[in-house]
Amino acid sequence: MDNKKNRAVVRVPGTSANCGPGFDCLGLATTIYNYLDLTLLRGSKVIVEATGEGSENIPRGKKNLAWQAVKRFLQEIGRADEFKGAIIRSKNNVPVSRGLGSSSTAIVGGLVAANEILGAPLNRQELLKIATELEGHPDNVAPALFGGFTVSVMDNGEVQTFSFLPRIRLKLIVAVPDFELSTRLARKVLPKNVSMRDAVFNISRASMLISALVEGREDLLPLAFDDAIHQPYRKKLVPGMSEVFTAAKSAGALGAAISGAGSCLIAFTTTRSGLENKIAAAMVEEFKAHDVKSKSLILDLDRRGAKIIKR
Ligand code: HSE
Repeated sequence: MDNKKNRAVVRVPGTSANCGPGFDCLGLATTIYNYLDLTLLRGSKVIVEATGEGSENIPRGKKNLAWQAVKRFLQEIGRADEFKGAIIRSKNNVPVSRGLGSSSTAIVGGLVAANEILGAPLNRQELLKIATELEGHPDNVAPALFGGFTVSVMDNGEVQTFSFLPRIRLKLIVAVPDFELSTRLARKVLPKNVSMRDAVFNISRASMLISALVEGREDLLPLAFDDAIHQPYRKKLVPGMSEVFTAAKSAGALGAAISGAGSCLIAFTTTRSGLENKIAAAMVEEFKAHDVKSKSLILDLDRRGAKIIKR
């Protein structure tokens, strides 16, 4: 096998987890992408080149997350002795440590590219299992792999995912603050237990959200993006969070939420509302009123997940 045959390039969407009430369970794929160009090597060198978002801080060598995923994949299929190294080139557009699933793009990119090079010995469900193990929870890796909207359930360490394309064409407005937020810290502020009342608050809204999206019931969405079990505790980590939500809704958004563990905030409207620029401006303006510099991204739902673009 020469190097050309050992190479694949994958495009992986950035993602937004939780979607308000679906903590550690719901996720969606967006039309902002990272690109991963993988060449498997027989020698044990790991060469990492990165450009774009966060490229200066991406671990080079064997600590690189995409390499960790590739290595885990090779072990899973029993070929780790055959390929001991790789050249990994990434071109990144997804902001890092902002709740848009940048680490998932590295994991999913590594897995999908290596799987493609070696003749697809694993299906996407099997890749999801490895990706979830590496990431710790499924709500970013599932939409990165499958695209669209995903509902994931963990059962004794096993992940089960339902992915679907909503019957409502969503426009996603993301306010990206100029500060990073580590998922570790954003999980540390969460309580160990929640009340029955808050649990019911979330279960009802998460169920309503999925039903409304599947059935195309836009009228039900304004009820469906609220949360009582993680956002209230994370509020102190994102100055102006509640006010930015209010500003987005006043500008016409159907709902708003923290994207993943933050720091980004995401608001939802429909493609036909034409309100996305107004909502984006309102969110950035409100952040500014809380001394937070931010930029906005106006995105669509990615419909296909990780995609091989060169082989
Ligand atoms: N569900 C996770 C959280 C997403 O909110 O902590 C983090 O990427």
